[in-house]
Amino acid sequence: MALAAATLASSPRVSISVSAAGMNSSGLSMSFGARRVPGISVQIHSQRRRMAAAAARGHEGAGKTFVEEMRAAAMRMHTKDQASEGEKELEGPSLNELEPNLEAYLRFLVDSKLIFQTLENIVDRAAVPCYLCLSDAEFQNTGLERSEALKKDLKWFSEQGHTIPEPSASDTKYASYLEELSEKDQQAFFCHFYNMYFGQSAGGRLTGKKIADKILNKKELEFYKWEGTLSELLQNVRTKLNQVASSWTREEKNRCLEETVTSFAYSVDRLRKIFT
Ligand code: HEM
Repeated sequence: MALAAATLASSPRVSISVSAAGMNSSGLSMSFGARRVPGISVQIHSQRRRMAAAAARGHEGAGKTFVEEMRAAAMRMHTKDQASEGEKELEGPSLNELEPNLEAYLRFLVDSKLIFQTLENIVDRAAVPCYLCLSDAEFQNTGLERSEALKKDLKWFSEQGHTIPEPSASDTKYASYLEELSEKDQQAFFCHFYNMYFGQSAGGRLTGKKIADKILNKKELEFYKWEGTLSELLQNVRTKLNQVASSWTREEKNRCLEETVTSFAYSVDRLRKIFT
């Protein structure tokens, strides 16, 4: 299993450099194509733009549900040793070669809680934009929610005598970015929603297990447990996501797919810090 460190290379043709807000003394907001991405610095190379453009032309669309399109965009962002469908070359050491650090893992859990709580607050809010509150396609209480589980885990760590840190600057900015997207760019918001919940159910679980084996005496945290059958919960949400996206234009769908790179940049940055 590998996690690109400061540099993400999304494929031999595509490379993106990412650094955390805290590591960038200059102000922490750099341009990402046409969009400013706060809290993380993302440098897009011209080939990366071509990849986004290819997605934008809808080459992937034929015969696929929109969730399958989002999944394909996400799988392309994995390294080959993370997932067999990954396309990125491994740069830097594999996660298997690195030792997780408990203090850093606690920061990761705190940051994950902030981000899941933010997503959950957004979909719970009465003022939630209509794309998330269609009566037959709502995203509240899907069973995938993670913030309550993380709350329990952090309470457990606290009872074990560990100090619970404050959220990082980069994920505090990511939370603000999600709030902003939820109001101004529903398609992009949708992409983060998908990647956070579905990524957690896949690679997130694998990573959590490896960390538990190494530093938690195999204790399974609540973060990695779901009530009910996970595959069914995921399928229900896939159906709703497809239903919502069915009213989008091709351009709007492409806007959502393009956001996958930003979603990964934030999440990879959060994961990477467990091992530093
Ligand atoms: C250590 C890092 C990671 C590892 C080891 C990993 C591994 C995996 C694996 C094994 C799969 C399943 C592939 C399959 O269905 O055969 C997967 C799926 C996926 N991953 Fe990751 N991943 C990692 C990071 C991420 C990140 C940072 C994100 C995005 C924020 C992400 C988003 C996804 C998504 C959306 C899927 C598709 C899930 C589905 O089909 O339901 N992954 N990942």
